[in-house]
Amino acid sequence: MTRPTILGTGSYLPKRILTNRDLEKMVDTSDEWITTRTGIKSRRIATKGEETSRIAAAAGKDALKMAGLTPDEIDLIIVGTMTPEMAMPSCACFVQQELGAVNAFALDVNAACSGFVYGLDTADKYLRCKPDMKALIIGTENLSARVNWKDRDTCVLFGDGAGACVLATSDNNDSGILASRLFSDGRLSDLLMLDSAPSMNPDLNFQTKNNNKTEIGSEQGPYIRMKGKDVFKFAVRAMSGAVSELLATVDMTVADIDLLIPHQANIRILKGLADRLNIPFEKIFINLNKYGNTSAASVPIALDEANREGRLKKGDLLVLCAMGGGFTWGTTIIRW
Ligand code: UT7
Repeated sequence: MTRPTILGTGSYLPKRILTNRDLEKMVDTSDEWITTRTGIKSRRIATKGEETSRIAAAAGKDALKMAGLTPDEIDLIIVGTMTPEMAMPSCACFVQQELGAVNAFALDVNAACSGFVYGLDTADKYLRCKPDMKALIIGTENLSARVNWKDRDTCVLFGDGAGACVLATSDNNDSGILASRLFSDGRLSDLLMLDSAPSMNPDLNFQTKNNNKTEIGSEQGPYIRMKGKDVFKFAVRAMSGAVSELLATVDMTVADIDLLIPHQANIRILKGLADRLNIPFEKIFINLNKYGNTSAASVPIALDEANREGRLKKGDLLVLCAMGGGFTWGTTIIRW
């Protein structure tokens, strides 16, 4: 059986580094608190010329190079992001333009931190219908533009970056995506939010403040808002449940996993995940200490690092999993 397979990976990390020590001068926090509560030591901050689509295109270029493909060979570009520089055109169309991927169609996926896993699943389904297609899947974020730098609860957590992979159907019977599954639960939407420009025209007066409908929008500004403890507990439960359930569908168990690349949000979430799955911690790839939580970019950046560090050998069983606002979550099982 031929399966969609990852031919190349890539990433781009903005040059500017913001350390915990730097943050101590900005808000009432400490390196000790951030390190022990999250595992994060530093994060990257995008500056001029490092807009969401630009860093996405840089990561995409990297992945194409490794795959040995030119941009005009790509049929589909999917970009997972919740921080596109514009509502229209999509980030994916900017990426297409920047790369010169003239034969592709391009779309964005907004699934917050699960954006890359959502994009990979979507591309996987396209390629199974049309096996000659080649897809570029990217996760990219400019979260530093969308956190409140006066709010210590959130500003210490996030960072900017982009990661990518090229997916194409392989003739190799063994390698490729073995299984993938996505989940959402919109009932939990208010636990993790990022305000955007209002999409209701106030002149039309569709919604008044006290009409018992959910009030969208924050008084403080268009920033990330989060009920951290609730998100934390859900993330551990959702990712561990999704991984073990999906493994069972392909007659495998956690013991078969060679490398688990989870969304990089908090080292304590990853320890909780390891405990619940009963997987040795060494089998979990971690780079959140360097980059913080880069949302949709976190899994593909980690995937690219793991790949370039030689952590993935041919035949290895790789599992990706992520959880984010929406809530959204999902997992992918790949034979490398
Ligand atoms: O990507 C998916 C979305 N996000 C996540 O997965 C994040 C999930 N949540 C978390 O990672 C954790 O809940 C946090 C790291 C956000 C917070 O850790 P926590 O152990 O849940 O801490 P907490 O919110 O209960 O806060 C404990 C204390 C509070 O002080 P009091 O009330 O105990 O006096 C906070 O005000 O720590 C205080 N605090 C801080 N102190 C120093 C909160 N942020 C900071 C800070 N520096 N940056």
